[in-house]
Amino acid sequence: MGRILLHEETLDPNFLPPKLVHRSEELQRLTRRSTESLSRGVPFHVQINGGIGSGKTVLARRLAADLERHGRIGQAAVKSVYINAWRRASDRTVALDLLRAVGVHLPDRGYSLSEMLDVFEQGARRQPRHYLVILDEAGALVRQETKIVYLLSRAAEVGLGSISLILIAPDDLLPYLDPASRSSFGPTHRLALTPYTREQLQDILDARAELALRPGSYEPSILGQVARIAAPNGDARFALEVLGSAAHAAEGAGRDAIAAEDVRAAKGSIYPTVSESLLEGLSTQGLTVLLALARSLRRKGATISSQKLRETHAGLLEEFEEKPVSRTTFWRTLKELDRAGLVALEIGASGTSAEISMDEMPASYLATLIEERLGHGPAARR
Ligand SMILES: Nc1ncnc2c1ncn2[C@@H]1O[C@H](COP(=O)(O)OP(=O)(O)OP(=O)(O)O)[C@@H](O)[C@H]1O
Ligand SMILES: [Mg+2]
Repeated sequence: MGRILLHEETLDPNFLPPKLVHRSEELQRLTRRSTESLSRGVPFHVQINGGIGSGKTVLARRLAADLERHGRIGQAAVKSVYINAWRRASDRTVALDLLRAVGVHLPDRGYSLSEMLDVFEQGARRQPRHYLVILDEAGALVRQETKIVYLLSRAAEVGLGSISLILIAPDDLLPYLDPASRSSFGPTHRLALTPYTREQLQDILDARAELALRPGSYEPSILGQVARIAAPNGDARFALEVLGSAAHAAEGAGRDAIAAEDVRAAKGSIYPTVSESLLEGLSTQGLTVLLALARSLRRKGATISSQKLRETHAGLLEEFEEKPVSRTTFWRTLKELDRAGLVALEIGASGTSAEISMDEMPASYLATLIEERLGHGPAARR
């Protein structure tokens, strides 16, 4: 028996992975554009948009780390400043963060924005560098008539030194920018990230599991299960969170590998999605098929084939002394469960078989819920 989480810190949202999976094209584009600009002695500004967990922050931080290592503008090296403008967003708090980056710690009261920027300029002049400012979660800030975006994107003109600006937000901020800033962030200065596909999520999980988890503590099907859960939103953050939480649960229970049931529990604890009320709307047929599924998955596995499930279901009807159902009824019931969001069907190429999964909650818990509802629980049998 061994531990599962060998390097837990690599699952932390703030961990910067050494390699970005499926974003090399985007990274290359940003790198090319930025080094081109810097070599001409001018800053570059870019806006990164994309949904939750689409890799906006990690992409910007990766670019910043690479430019700090290799980028130059004239004689000056690049120093990156990461500022998260979420919530406490105001031009003054951003200015304070900038000051901290040049080693000046001012109290957060008593100075006007222009005074703070004067101090920044003095600090920056003492040590000429090119500042790459990442303004993450900039949506709220930009919507409240910010001046800071204008000042940073026109740094040379307003006497602030040499600054490139990366703006990050889910949606395009162009409509909210003042006309002068708008010209710095035109359509060619925008990178929109698409949500990750299930396959891409699986590769991201693969790479991260290799860093974080003990080899042999997870089957590929476990990562596939997590990828399937996160796929509807293409959200890598959620995928990694589910994996970490499942690993914790397995380790906490003293097991040496992650089970499909741990993943379901992890998902449920992060986003509780199914409640008993959903079961209320189901036919008895729906309940028995779901129970057969829950019992199979409780034993083992992330998915089950429709043939296997049909056999298990037939056995269960026998146990309950109910009449068997036709193949058509069985399929109609599966589709009904799929529509209710309780199971996911993946129809095979022939169209006559499917892989069925249920990732909404621990299968053992679901089995108990249905058994109680059908009056066939362990209590009823006793
Ligand atoms: N292409 C990738 N390769 C490896 N890891 C990735 C990739 N994309 C995202 N991740 C990881 O997924 C998590 C979420 O990514 P990130 O924080 O960059 O998303 P985001 O778009 O900034 O989301 P949010 O809008 O919630 O801030 C991070 O742990 C990050 O390391
Ligand atoms: Mg982010």
